[in-house]
Order: sequence, then C-alpha cells, then structure tokens
Amino acid sequence: MPKRVTRAAKPGPSRAAASARDPKRAQLKNDTEFVRDAALTTNQGLPIEDDQDSLKAGDRGPTLLEDFHFREKITHFDHERIPERIVHARGSAAHGSFQVYESLADYTKAGFLSDPARRTPVFVRFSTVAGSRGSTDLARDVRGFAVKFYTDEGNFDLVGNNMPVFFIQDAIKFPDLIHAVKPEPNNEMPQAASAHDTFWDFISLMPESTHMILWLMSDRAIPRSYRMMEGFGVHTFRLINAAGKSRFVKFHWKPLLGVHSVAWDEAQKISGKDPDFHRRDLWQAIESGAFPEYELGLQIVEEKDEFAFGFDLLDPTKLIPEELVPVQRVGKLTLDRNPDNFFAETEQVAFHIGNVVPGIGFSNDPLLQGRLFSYTDTQLIRLGGPNFHEIPINRATAPTHNNQRDGFMRQQINPGRVSYQPNSLGDNQPAQATSAAGGYVTHVEPVEGSKVRTRGDSFFDHYSQARMFFHSQSEPEKQHIVKAFRFELGKVETPAIRERMVLHLAQVDSGLATDVAKGLGIEIPANAPAPPNLSVSADGDPAARQHRTLLDRELASPALSMAAQVPAPIASRKVAVLVAPGFDSAGVGALTRMLTTGGATAHLVGPRLGGLAGDDGKTVRPEFSILTTASVLFDAVYVAGGEQAGKWAGESDAVDFVRDAFKHCKPLAASGEGVKLLEAARVPVGGADDADPADDATIVAQRMTRAVAERFVAALAGHRLWTREPELHLPL
Ligand code: HEM
Repeated sequence: MPKRVTRAAKPGPSRAAASARDPKRAQLKNDTEFVRDAALTTNQGLPIEDDQDSLKAGDRGPTLLEDFHFREKITHFDHERIPERIVHARGSAAHGSFQVYESLADYTKAGFLSDPARRTPVFVRFSTVAGSRGSTDLARDVRGFAVKFYTDEGNFDLVGNNMPVFFIQDAIKFPDLIHAVKPEPNNEMPQAASAHDTFWDFISLMPESTHMILWLMSDRAIPRSYRMMEGFGVHTFRLINAAGKSRFVKFHWKPLLGVHSVAWDEAQKISGKDPDFHRRDLWQAIESGAFPEYELGLQIVEEKDEFAFGFDLLDPTKLIPEELVPVQRVGKLTLDRNPDNFFAETEQVAFHIGNVVPGIGFSNDPLLQGRLFSYTDTQLIRLGGPNFHEIPINRATAPTHNNQRDGFMRQQINPGRVSYQPNSLGDNQPAQATSAAGGYVTHVEPVEGSKVRTRGDSFFDHYSQARMFFHSQSEPEKQHIVKAFRFELGKVETPAIRERMVLHLAQVDSGLATDVAKGLGIEIPANAPAPPNLSVSADGDPAARQHRTLLDRELASPALSMAAQVPAPIASRKVAVLVAPGFDSAGVGALTRMLTTGGATAHLVGPRLGGLAGDDGKTVRPEFSILTTASVLFDAVYVAGGEQAGKWAGESDAVDFVRDAFKHCKPLAASGEGVKLLEAARVPVGGADDADPADDATIVAQRMTRAVAERFVAALAGHRLWTREPELHLPL
C-alpha cells in the first residue's frame, strides 16, 4: 500500500529557515499539498483503483448513476470556473517582502514602516484593466499594481496603478467609465482595447479625464515589463503618528530597473507572438533569480499646506509634481517567489483599499471613498460569499478574532455559544483593543457642510496638469502621444466624437491638437471653445463645470518623462544573437560574457533547432529557430559574423527580425558577413567598423571585439534610440 503524504512540508533546512523568516510562507505551506508516494483518492479519502473507465452495465453498456467517483470528479470539474474580476481581470502575481530603510515613526505608527529590522511578507498582483482574463498583456491600458502587506498588525493593501492619476473624480462615474471602455455590449468588440467609439464618446464628454488620457496615450500604457514600471497609490492618504499627528501622503513605487516602455507597433506584434509577454517576463525573471525590486516613495504634505498647491489634494485627476514635493525613498519591495498555484493565489487574492493598519488613514477624495465600498462588495460575488478572508492567500498573518459567523464555505470552527459583544458569558472575548494595544482609531477630522451632490470648485481645472504632463515629455515621447491619439481616434467611427476630442486637446496644447487633427483629416476652427462638460446633473449648468485655471503659473515636471530614466541597468535585458553555421564563436563569447557581467542574457537564434557548429568546431544548440521567435521579444539584436552569416540575407523571417528591431529603435549590431542581413533589411549601416554617426545604437564591425561589445552594452543601457523614428515617417 503506497504511503499517502499530504499537507507535508517540503524537507530541507534552508526552506525551514526561510519559513521562519516569512510567516506568510509558513502559513501558506499549511494549506499546500505536496504529493509523494500517495494514492489517488476521492475527496472523501477513498483510494481509487480505476480512474480510467466509468462504471457501466456491461463493457458496451450505459454508465451507471451509481458511479460516485465519476460524479464527484465531473461535478468538481463543472464548477471550476469563478467570475473573473469586473476590472483588472488579467493579472500576474508574485510573493516577496518589504523592508523600510529607516524608522518612519515620526510620520506613522504603522509597525512595518517604523522598524527597519522587520521584513514584511507581501503578495503583489499586476494587471491590465479592460481586458478579460485571457486577453493580451500588451494592450494599451493602465496597469494595476496591487500590494498586500501581511503585517504584524493586520493586512495593509496598497491598491494602486502605474499611473498617478485617474479618469474620473467621483466613484459614482466608475461604472460608466468601465462600461464605456469594455468591449461594446452588442457585439463584445474590441477586446482589451480603448480604441472604439463608446470609450471616446464618454471621454469626450468628461473633460476631467483629459489628464489621465494623456497618460493613457503615452508609452506608460505599454510597459516593457511589470518590473520596469512605476506604481502609484493615486489618492491622497494620511500617515498618522503615535502622537495622533496626521500628514497627507502620496504613495509611489520606483522600480530599480528604471521605467521603460515598448513601441506601439511592437506591442501589437508582441500580442500575436506572445500574449503572455509580461506574465512570462515576471515569471522567468523570478525563476532566474533576477528579483524585481521597487523602492517605496512617499510625498508627504503637512496638513497646513493642504491648499498650498493650486490644485486639490482630494482630486484624483491631479498629481503632486515631484519637483514641488520630492519623493522620499523609504524602503524596498523585492519579489522573489512565484506563486505555486495561479488559481489559488493570483486569482483568489482579494485586495481592498480599506485594508489598513494603525498609522495609515484616508482622505476625503470622493474616488477613494467610493472604492472603500466597491472592493468587498464585488469580492462577495466573485469569491462566493463572506468568508474569502479565510482563503489562504487572503488570510492575515496577524491573529484574527471576532464574532462574525457562518456563511458559505466557513472554514473556522468557533466553539461556544457566544458570538456577540458585549457579553458576560464568554468573558467579553474577543475584547476591543485600546489604541495603545494596537486598536485602530480613525483620525479625528472635523467635517461640516450641507448634504449636496456636487464637488468643490477646485476640481474644475481639467487641463493644466494635462498640459504639464505633455510639456514635460521628450520630443519622441510627444510624438508617440500624437500617434497614439491618431491611432485610437482613427478607429473611432463617429466623426463628432473625434472632433470633440481634438477640441479638448486644443485646450491642452495647440501643437498637439493640430498634429492629431492632421492625422485624422480634421480642420480645427480658430479659437474653438472647449466642448461642454456633460458630467452635470439634469438641473445643473454645464457652463458652471467648464475648465477654470486655478494656477497662476505653468507647471513643469521633468520627472514625468521616462526619458529621464535612461541610461538604466541592463540587468535581465534579453539580447537575441543570430547564429548561422560557422559563426564567430569568439565574438559571440565576448558579447555573451559582457552581457552576463551586467546581468543581461544572450539567447541564440539559429536557422533551425538542433546542433550548430561555430568556427571553432564546437557545437551549440540555439534556444530558438528563426521561426519560433521574433525580435519584438528581445531588447536588442546581434547578427554574428561567420562563414555562412551572409545567407541570413536571403531569409525573409530574418530580414523582418532585424527590420523590426531597427524600427522599434533597439540596439542592433552585426559583424562580418552578418552585416549583409542589415543591408537586406535596408537598415542604414554606414561603413563597416563605423558607427553611423546619427545612430549610435546601430553598430557594424568586422568582428565582435570587447570594444564593440562595450558600445553595444552602452546602447542597451540607453534602452531605445527613439530619435531614429522620424526618418521613418512620411510628411503629412
Ligand atoms: C485610483 C483609482 C483606482 C485604482 C488605482 C484602482 C486599482 C485597482 C487594482 C490594482 C485592481 C486589481 C486588484 C487585483 O489585482 O486583484 C482593482 C480592482 C478593482 N477595482 Fe479598482 N481602482 C481604482 C478605482 C476604482 C473605483 C473608483 C472602483 C469602484 C468604485 C474600483 C473598483 C474595482 C473593482 C470592483 C475591482 C475588482 C476587485 C476584485 O474583484 O478583486 N476601482 N482596482
């Protein structure tokens, strides 16, 4: 009889030590099944002798209802799907930890932010917003950046995005926004895309969305990797210290690999070649030990300065420029472990902006306030009842005791007859905790006013920060925004929607509007007013909700440009090396070594799979054939020289490979005969051994030497040579 081992911990002292350091990991292990030498059983524990055939009346007869094993197996299978998230359905997650650099006790009494010795386990889920669970990772979209801290004082969820502002100012508009961006309800098209009429119809009537739309049309909406994007808590929160002093705070995540994007054409091609691109990238990075790291940043504002900025801290369509309030980097988040089971962890995790710990509180941002209701409400149906906090991934590592009882799938067994408070029959247990003992006390804030459905005057500056964002971008970044608008609005079928949007853009920047309009074949009338704000009540006056400039000066924030983030570490960057029989082994070796030193990786791509000999007679086995990969899946390309490297020039897939790499502004190098491929792809190369003076990311050389490799690595650290793009455009 085989031994049945379930719920047993994996052996090994290092794992045991790791569990001691990571209480969440230890807790999850209790619910993890490791099967070794175990019999297959029913859910009731009955060993099964035959899992191949159902029970029948005779070997050609009907299946019998008596077959309890068959019925249990099929019934479970029939119920394996749960509703996907109404938003952020497509996501990928990882475990890790957070540690603060120095105590922030002056600002907050949150233990995990006050004790530099404390390592807090975290679970982080990245996501897109609009697409379904199976949609592409590379959609033009906002990315979710949700962090669950399993602190000693309870779970704290920082449920943010990779953009610091949002589309709407009041949560009551969230269903409208999401209905508009999701596939249109009559034909369920398009999937995971904002380039359609209903989205732009809504946006064009909601000028408060303009700032966010600029972010969405920028390359921030097509990140190179979850590991290379910023995160933002968006709303203004509060930090409260032990003395009860409160300050406003904006939360940031700063990736240590810098902030990088792909090109839009590249994003669309990646969606075909590898729709799991971001998921795979995160998974592989962690498996290979290249752990994603982000610093937690805080922008802290004293209460007395609440009105010092000329925009409202409660308005989630506004950010605080880093140049006005610097981002203090206070701690580090490291993701170092992939989930064991996608459904149990990534799918069932439930984040909630209302999960806070003492020392962290809320502001009156009306979007934040609405979110405080929405998350638990949606999770009740998504996860099937009120006990989803008991699902292992959601369970706090801090002790939980209360008088909540029953409900679907209750796991905990509460003995005794007392489930109310106060009580005398159970010694009044569980007892409330004093604030000194860790009880959560809401920050005391005076509130007064009439009961009204409105928002403050200070919320009606719709365009100033949109302008600040646009003006803070580098020239190539501005061009990408223009092209994104042309693409998105070009897909809109209703001319009036396009025209309205262009008139909004004219309020942001006339050059932006003119450039977009040109691409759409629209004439902008001189001095055309902004379209009306139709986010107004039936009795309200649209004119009263038109834009008004509250600032007496133009804002600029160079920190908003991703171009400010290069050069950046090359760690975990992927370089494709095209090798043909007789390739220059020494050159490939030299480049590979240099890439490895910087933490990047070289990946051999051959004309076919299987063994292939270099010019030193040694055989290598390329990881990919030219048919199984594409340059959009790499950060840079090198065509190795060698006896037969010139033959690549006759291979159309190879021509596309380097042509795309050039078009997407990636570092590109070729040596010896390999240069012929660049020529066949009409990549301007200049003379061999000369960098094209206009393009120091395209490198050709007789041989790949150490010096050439150094130049290539420097170009890789620059990410992309975006200035290469204009020459590819026809004049309009
Ligand atoms: C600043 C604005 C917002 C941000 C940064 C944000 C962020 C996020 C993130 C990151 C997730 C994914 C959580 C996960 O990975 O499981 C999410 C899910 C969700 N958000 Fe938001 N959101 C915002 C606004 C809103 C608003 C205004 C509402 C509703 C009033 C809302 C409702 C939801 C819902 C229902 C989910 C699905 C939750 C689940 O099923 O687990 N969000 N949000």
